[in-house]
Amino acid sequence: MPATTGPRNVSDADAADQRLHVAIIMDGNGRWAKQRGMPRVLGHRAGVNALKRTVEGAQSQNVGVLTVFGFSTENWRRPAHEVSELMNLLKAYVESDLERLAKAGVRVRVIGRRTGLSADIAEVIDRAERRTRDNTAFTLQVAFNYGGQADITDAARTFAERVERGEAKASDLTEAMFERFLSTASAPPPDLIVRTSGEQRISNFLLWDCAYAELVFQDVLWPDYGPEALAAAIAEYRRRDRRYGGVAADDVAVAG
Ligand code: IPE
Ligand code: IPE
Ligand code: MG
Repeated sequence: MPATTGPRNVSDADAADQRLHVAIIMDGNGRWAKQRGMPRVLGHRAGVNALKRTVEGAQSQNVGVLTVFGFSTENWRRPAHEVSELMNLLKAYVESDLERLAKAGVRVRVIGRRTGLSADIAEVIDRAERRTRDNTAFTLQVAFNYGGQADITDAARTFAERVERGEAKASDLTEAMFERFLSTASAPPPDLIVRTSGEQRISNFLLWDCAYAELVFQDVLWPDYGPEALAAAIAEYRRRDRRYGGVAADDVAVAG
């Protein structure tokens, strides 16, 4: 089985107590605010509280890695004041929660392009990663200035540079080698990708990594999200039959 199209450790995946990688497209902040006649930025602020509840809830729901989509490479298209609020919220979140997360054994990792981010944002990201790098109890991956296409392009460029320097041969490239250049390389691929707000699209999230993820779309707007909604998504995931292109074990028996 190619490394990219299944669990990286099959025996772990078969274990009943396998810790999941759940990835969430946190969507619907703007609509939540609009429903209340409030400016969109207040939806984003409420969204940070939902994130705090969800991170907390995930740790007691057999989730080992939680990846959240906080800002996409396309979100720069939004009005400048909204972009600036989203930047400030990341900073405020790290400032208010970093110590608590660090003491709870959470490893924080931020994936996405650092170029284009201002120096103060890059600094809080570095600080969060450095402060928590030895933690192993739980991983919180924040996708920020992240785009799946950008990530694949950057990985391709890194590999091409190695070839140019004579350190690698193009003919040696495999899926397993390529994925090591992605910013998501240090985590297993997501088992479950959730999108809130009822939208049913991937919006440039984890394009390589989503190959065999189960997708769950929930109607709840992100600011209303929390541990119960996460539990419902995981329960739906548990009802799915993951085959990775093969056939289920009992069907092999039937086919003889
Ligand atoms: C998600 O909420 C947060 C980000 C994309 C940063 P939106 O801001 O996209 O909310 P809607 O989709 O407009 O309701
Ligand atoms: C995806 O949501 C990005 C994040 C949640 C950070 P968007 O709201 O930006 O996606 P589209 O524009 O509806 O596809
Ligand atoms: Mg949206």
